[in-house]
Amino acid sequence: MSETVRVLLSEEEVDKKIAEVAKQISADYEGEQVHLICVLRGGVFFTCELAKRLTIPVSLDFMSVSSYGMDTKSCGVVKIIKDLDDGIEGKNVLVVEDIIDSGRTLSYLLENLKNRNPKSLKLCTLLDKPERRVVEVDVDYTCFNIPDEFVVGYGLDYAQKYRNLPYIGVVELD
Ligand code: IMP
Ligand code: MG
Repeated sequence: MSETVRVLLSEEEVDKKIAEVAKQISADYEGEQVHLICVLRGGVFFTCELAKRLTIPVSLDFMSVSSYGMDTKSCGVVKIIKDLDDGIEGKNVLVVEDIIDSGRTLSYLLENLKNRNPKSLKLCTLLDKPERRVVEVDVDYTCFNIPDEFVVGYGLDYAQKYRNLPYIGVVELD
């Protein structure tokens, strides 16, 4: 079986949209500091590109939760693989995620973070597949809503491949 990757969102489209969302976030948090929580590993490219474009003071931390493993279907099990280094009490927390699919990962994560008493807690995602939602999640900032297709690039992988692609593509198996 061979794999090809079809471009869904070009590098230019993605970069342009991230700049727009960064501008909106900077305006919304004017006069405040924002604490970005990058959800590893997929969220890392988006977090960097977003953070570079924010004009408000930013701090960063990282968290890793289990998701798909080697398959393209969610197993529904969420586990913290790596917790945050710092506490978030009293901070304006903005969780930065690559994609929201069933919503299981984020609903678990947001509930977990809420219990640590941040000043505010918001969610920013590069991609959203609303059709696939199983658990409801409030998303504050979405760059793109996409159809129900398995995508790679910009941090997203298929069996750990393609994370480094500078665009969003759809894996086609033929
Ligand atoms: P959820 O818990 O079903 O919302 O899954 C979220 C996680 O599944 C994301 O953070 C990704 O790691 C992974 N995921 C969901 N859809 C895709 C996709 O189309 N490509 C690559 N990873 C995906
Ligand atoms: Mg992820």
